[in-house]
Amino acid sequence: MNTESVNVLNTKSVFVIAIDGPSGAGKGTLSQLVAKHFGYHLLDSGALYRLVALSALNQGVDLQDEQAIADIARQLQVKFDIAGNTTRIVLDGNDVTDAIRHENVSMSASLIAAYPMVRSALLQRQKDFAQAPGLVADGRDMGTTVFPEAQVKIFLTASAEARAERRFKQLHEKGVEVNMAELVSDIKARDDRDTQRATSPLKPADDALVLDSTSLTIDQVLSAILAQVR
Ligand code: C5P
Repeated sequence: MNTESVNVLNTKSVFVIAIDGPSGAGKGTLSQLVAKHFGYHLLDSGALYRLVALSALNQGVDLQDEQAIADIARQLQVKFDIAGNTTRIVLDGNDVTDAIRHENVSMSASLIAAYPMVRSALLQRQKDFAQAPGLVADGRDMGTTVFPEAQVKIFLTASAEARAERRFKQLHEKGVEVNMAELVSDIKARDDRDTQRATSPLKPADDALVLDSTSLTIDQVLSAILAQVR
């Protein structure tokens, strides 16, 4: 059996819950809770795009050079070290868990994520996360492109203002002061880039349950997702 057929078998037989949506809708938190609830693996696909962006920035590679960025994506040496409830992300031997969350990396990740060659370089790496007993996959195109056969597809959204407010609170708690209007405009810029790119744009799969979390608590969204899985 060749590698491709093994991978197809793996992905098809494993239960996959795809959770897509725009930045700041709460996908990260919810995906972790759902994965913990079922004892499933977790794919934070955004972290892969962030790692490619960070690696390019560190190496001084021109972010406009699609081929060079795709080469970085293909050769990415990354380890996800899971200990209890925390995952440390190690790139080329360095812990970059916090570094990939910086605003300049967020913006650069959204830029390089529009390149078809980069998306295709990361495709199989993402599919390989589908391992027994199951996977919760968090991203923008989990239900449409990476796991179109996922048994459950959720599209989690919220207004740009609500998402900016949550981000504002998170940053404030870390002692980082930011301007609310700038946060809203950054989030809208990322939304535009994610929804308007030609390859795998951000959009709900036809068979996705769309959940608007603007006025819901985390517990309410979690209950809705668990109900959908059942
Ligand atoms: O989800 P997160 O904000 O960490 O993702 C970082 C960036 O990676 C996003 O702004 C988005 O442009 C891109 N991304 C993507 N497809 C995914 C996950 C993330 O294009 N499946």
